[in-house]
Amino acid sequence: MEGHSLDWQNRPSVFKTYPGIKPVPFPKKPQPPKQVLSHLIAPSRPKSPRDLNIDDLSMILLLTDTLTAKSSHGGEEFYYRSVASAGALYPTEIYVAARTVDGLNDGLYHFDISGHNLIPLRKGDLTASIMMSTQGIEHPSPSLIFFLSAIYFRSAWKYRNRSYRYHLLDTGHLLENLRLSLISVDLPSALSYDFDDTKINHLLGLDKKKEVCLAICWVPGTGVRGGKEPEELPDLPPVVTSASRVASQEIDYPLIRGFHEAGEKITVNTKKDRTYNPGIPPGKGDLIKWNKVSPLKNWPETRNYTESLFERRSRRNFVREIIPTNYATALLESLFTPGLKDPMEADWQVRTILAGLLMERCEGFQPGFYMAELASGSMGLVSPGHFVDKMARICLDQTWLANAALHVLFFTDLHTLERSQGPRGYRYAMMTAGRLGERLYLVATAMGLGCCGIGAFYDREGSELLGLNWASGLLYVLGIGPVKSGF
Ligand SMILES: Cc1cc2nc3c(=O)[nH]c(=O)nc-3n(C[C@H](O)[C@H](O)[C@H](O)COP(=O)(O)O)c2cc1C
Repeated sequence: MEGHSLDWQNRPSVFKTYPGIKPVPFPKKPQPPKQVLSHLIAPSRPKSPRDLNIDDLSMILLLTDTLTAKSSHGGEEFYYRSVASAGALYPTEIYVAARTVDGLNDGLYHFDISGHNLIPLRKGDLTASIMMSTQGIEHPSPSLIFFLSAIYFRSAWKYRNRSYRYHLLDTGHLLENLRLSLISVDLPSALSYDFDDTKINHLLGLDKKKEVCLAICWVPGTGVRGGKEPEELPDLPPVVTSASRVASQEIDYPLIRGFHEAGEKITVNTKKDRTYNPGIPPGKGDLIKWNKVSPLKNWPETRNYTESLFERRSRRNFVREIIPTNYATALLESLFTPGLKDPMEADWQVRTILAGLLMERCEGFQPGFYMAELASGSMGLVSPGHFVDKMARICLDQTWLANAALHVLFFTDLHTLERSQGPRGYRYAMMTAGRLGERLYLVATAMGLGCCGIGAFYDREGSELLGLNWASGLLYVLGIGPVKSGF
């Protein structure tokens, strides 16, 4: 994190372009649904596959990632998005393989967020080849398979080697938007972080020194797939692979590639092996008195899901006000239900991280450091006291953070994680932290609270403040609370 000056001449483009390839437009502007977020997050009845058309895909993508605000810097226009991203550098790209979607030819497409279009990359039904390279796609005929990638240089331009964290956290943020979007249009879906990196990067036409696939999300289809055999896919033309370049003079960061490639191997592959919990840091667990958090009947939401999504911004102008108990409980509840009740989602992903809470100004909660057990929906006080001032200092003196009503922290025991999942476990943990981070942003927005993600902190000091053991690492921090405009 040592200081360095930014090379503005070489600022990476936030939009991926494929010169010469004609986009496929979506026929009409979708009308977003009106549900409230608490209904989307709460456990619901299992969803059934249905026939899809091009308007469904347009809606899913609109709710996953869309341009929501504009500002001008040095005469240039800059767009913010429905998803949060460290430094607004937006490393994550979306691709989708479609099959039997009415109004759209089967094939692989890149989602062009700038024009809300699809860029066709490959033709035909690619399901057999994708399924052969991906673990966890259990349905014989998925209709949509989404791929989320990260372009290294976008974040590395500013954050250099530390940016691998942001590639994963930012991708987690976008994944959560995708999952909520699919729930909102009543579609089942499941995630896979386990696939053959080389084959999937090749399928997407990525230059793997610059851009890599990090996550796959698939939506089961109806009907039976024709007996197509997996085939060796041809290389895509240079216009496609060279689109992974986003600045004229990119700097290569071999350490970032090294971190990623260390996770190429999938260490464990049975569901049973995934019931992994990094545990409570030694010396703490025995002391905690766990209390089950009783669910609220209604969350104090003042905006519906799509309003929250399109209004979501990082709000840092916190005021030192107390939040009522039901606001704090709704935030906690949103952490406790991340897909655990969804039969299509494996809960091992959630078990790769632990959540901590620095409750400062939350009615009904004694100030202190609490731990939350995401899987059981319980929380317990680890150490009473005031922590947010110290945490703000550890977060590179971002003093406004001390005014937040609470901080949510995600951490993991990296040692146990690596032993049980191999180095790829780091991807699971960081993307899960990102998913929950996006969820908190949206829930906070729905209730009129401010929220801001924090990736900039001194790791060792953070662990020391919380009394974590040597192997445990802080992954991500979010400050949440009332902001100047009121809630
Ligand atoms: C992983 C991650 C880390 C972030 N770290 C910080 C941070 O350390 N300090 C900060 O002020 N904002 C941080 N942010 C907020 C981003 O700067 C913000 O999302 C981005 O500028 C886009 O603005 P918006 O969220 O208002 O749309 C972070 C966001 C994410 C997703």
